[in-house]
Amino acid sequence: MTRTALVTGAARGIGLATTKHFLAQGYRVAMIDRDADALLDESAALEGAFAVVADVSQPDQVDRMVAEVLAETGRIDALVNNAGVADFGPIEDTDFARWRVVMETNLDGVFLVSQACTAALKETRGAIVNIASISGLRASTLRVAYGTSKAAVIHLTKQQAAELGEHGIRANCVAPGPVKTKLSIAVHSPEIIAAYHDAIPLNRYASEDEMANVIGFLCSEAASYVTGQIVAVDGGFDSTGIGLPALRV
Ligand SMILES: NC(=O)c1ccc[n+]([C@@H]2O[C@H](COP(=O)([O-])OP(=O)(O)OC[C@H]3O[C@@H](n4cnc5c(N)ncnc54)[C@H](O)[C@@H]3O)[C@@H](O)[C@H]2O)c1
Repeated sequence: MTRTALVTGAARGIGLATTKHFLAQGYRVAMIDRDADALLDESAALEGAFAVVADVSQPDQVDRMVAEVLAETGRIDALVNNAGVADFGPIEDTDFARWRVVMETNLDGVFLVSQACTAALKETRGAIVNIASISGLRASTLRVAYGTSKAAVIHLTKQQAAELGEHGIRANCVAPGPVKTKLSIAVHSPEIIAAYHDAIPLNRYASEDEMANVIGFLCSEAASYVTGQIVAVDGGFDSTGIGLPALRV
């Protein structure tokens, strides 16, 4: 029996690193992304992986995607809802269209893909890991849409854990701190990068692999009694207050 992991947003960044992590553990991996060119490029080089192009915010595409995955593998043991978009802007400039673009991928996508996979996950007593953000744990300026979408993902994870536990399905959430990926490079100016280094006890950004290791753990048997948890993989950012320079030695 070969276990299957379904990873959304798998064409690059954290999703691609997570795909490679699962492959190294002997899983087959269904790589899902709406960027067809990047997805097909990356998946072609990875033995044990296959690609399904889909936009996770579109219910019909999600249903078609999950049906294609099940036709290929017959099972889903781990679901990683990683696809996400970032758009930073002040509240007054965040019009409804911008708000919806963020919500439809970051929140609707997690809801839709999880729902479409639930029957398959019941059969395997599988695991869900949703990718939120430290922006869903701590509010900050310019993140009215992004931060709110990620806070909702945190609560959605708890809803899933509460309701699906009796079927043996575990649902957990990883809240990454900053990772240098295409997503963060687009919204983190040099000043933001310097400020993060200053505010994070470990004084640096994370690597994609540091996210993949925790995601993989939460999906594994080693985490068989862990559900409904939010794990901040953030170099200590969430556990600290603002690092007042006057309190430093
Ligand atoms: N990079 C960071 O600093 C950071 C920090 C906290 C949280 N996160 C979260 O981690 C996740 C991955 O981020 P990343 O930095 O690897 O981003 P990334 O932009 O490098 O990769 C995201 C991938 O998701 C795909 N995608 C986006 N919307 C999609 C949709 N609707 N349907 C299908 N695919 C879609 C993109 O095409 C892309 O390949 C996101 O949920 C993000 O919010 C990232």
